[in-house]
Amino acid sequence: MMIDYEKLPKLAGLCTLEEAAKPGLPLEECVRRLKRFQYSFKRLHGIFIGRLTSEPIYELKTAFAHHAYLCAEHATALRQRISEMPEPPLGLEDVPHPALEVFFDEILCAPDTNQFVYAVYLEAVGTLIEEIGEYERETHPLTDAPSRRLLKFAQIELAEMYQFGMKAVTALGDSWPTRDWDEHVMGPLLKVAKTAPSPDAELPRRYSTKPFTYDSVPQRDERFADPWNQAINPEAFLYSDEFQPRDKVLMMLFKRLREIDVPEMMASILAETTGKPWAYTRDMTRQLWDEARHAMMGEVGFFALGVDWTKARISWNWSYRLNTECTPLERHGVLFFIEQGLMPKTGKRYEFEVASESGIPLAATIQDFDWADEVLHSQIGREWYVKQFGSLQEALAFGDVAWTKITSNWTTVKDRGLTQHENWWTELYREACTANGWTIDPGAAAYDTSYEGRRADLKSLSTD
Ligand SMILES: [Fe+2]
Ligand SMILES: [Fe+2]
Repeated sequence: MMIDYEKLPKLAGLCTLEEAAKPGLPLEECVRRLKRFQYSFKRLHGIFIGRLTSEPIYELKTAFAHHAYLCAEHATALRQRISEMPEPPLGLEDVPHPALEVFFDEILCAPDTNQFVYAVYLEAVGTLIEEIGEYERETHPLTDAPSRRLLKFAQIELAEMYQFGMKAVTALGDSWPTRDWDEHVMGPLLKVAKTAPSPDAELPRRYSTKPFTYDSVPQRDERFADPWNQAINPEAFLYSDEFQPRDKVLMMLFKRLREIDVPEMMASILAETTGKPWAYTRDMTRQLWDEARHAMMGEVGFFALGVDWTKARISWNWSYRLNTECTPLERHGVLFFIEQGLMPKTGKRYEFEVASESGIPLAATIQDFDWADEVLHSQIGREWYVKQFGSLQEALAFGDVAWTKITSNWTTVKDRGLTQHENWWTELYREACTANGWTIDPGAAAYDTSYEGRRADLKSLSTD
């Protein structure tokens, strides 16, 4: 049989011979542009991390975690690619253009959510999509195939981020101040950023005249009512023999959703720790994103069971106090200590077993993957936290002591009138039973064990 060689795709399917028969960008220019993309992803990552904790809106907070992670991954891929191209020194931490630096500073310092969301997604992400698009068209499809390959993946996710931004801008409504800022600051900066850097270029600043200060105090939107409430201790319920797996699933979903405090806290570690290699940033951001996913797994679980999750009182006590009372290293220590405690019997295996026995298949899916994520987090902790100590024991002891510093504030917050520690569980439990046709277990409905004098690993605490 004759083979029709003409019909076979040429050049390993990259492009046609005609498309490859013209020159592409010089390598030096490719490196220059790739460094600019890497810088943009790195700045976007830092911006999402810098704004995550103080962003009240849950859907935005969780999206910032996701988008910070995507940007960290694309920056990582670009760093690798740049290091393969013979243009040393790499200069991966250099600023490629002063106007670009001011442009990102302005976004980081945007005074409110509306302006921030508009600028970060529609302006910054939008510009990056355009610039990468130009690169893809101008670089040689065969000689520079490795760069084009990773930029193709970047474009898919940038487009998704842009779409998210479009929808968010519409949902948030009024953005008049953004238009003025756009016209007088952001637009001119982007124009300058397209030209060769020059000391004479005017670089207008509006919001970033003072350097950005990271705000470590977590904020939540109005659906997170009563954020100091510590009326319900889900661990004591989960590890008790008195209750059935089905009801324990509800407590696990509460625990998952409450994990929204972990990205709030991890963002503070990233924002307030300097001098770490990029690999640290990448790994920590992966974990941060996982924790945001864990919170959303809780949301999904409640949704699937027809329960209004806002009936649960999702406290910010943990991230609030760690962020404002502990050093970044102490916070990391507490996180590692808690996650190590999840590995033995009363940990993730147990949660998965309970979920599997519950008759709620989604619960098993959630706990199965939650467990796998925690194994990864333990490895990340060993790599980036434990290695700062002489031994695992020292690292664990440091975390335990740091956590003990956060003595129970159950009484203080009550005395200050911040919460009455109202029992929200009974109503939520009854709602879940009604929605799913479950028989109410009177013991479970009457559950009323709080966090008074306790911390979340069931260790007793001195109360204040
Ligand atoms: Fe988690
Ligand atoms: Fe974790």
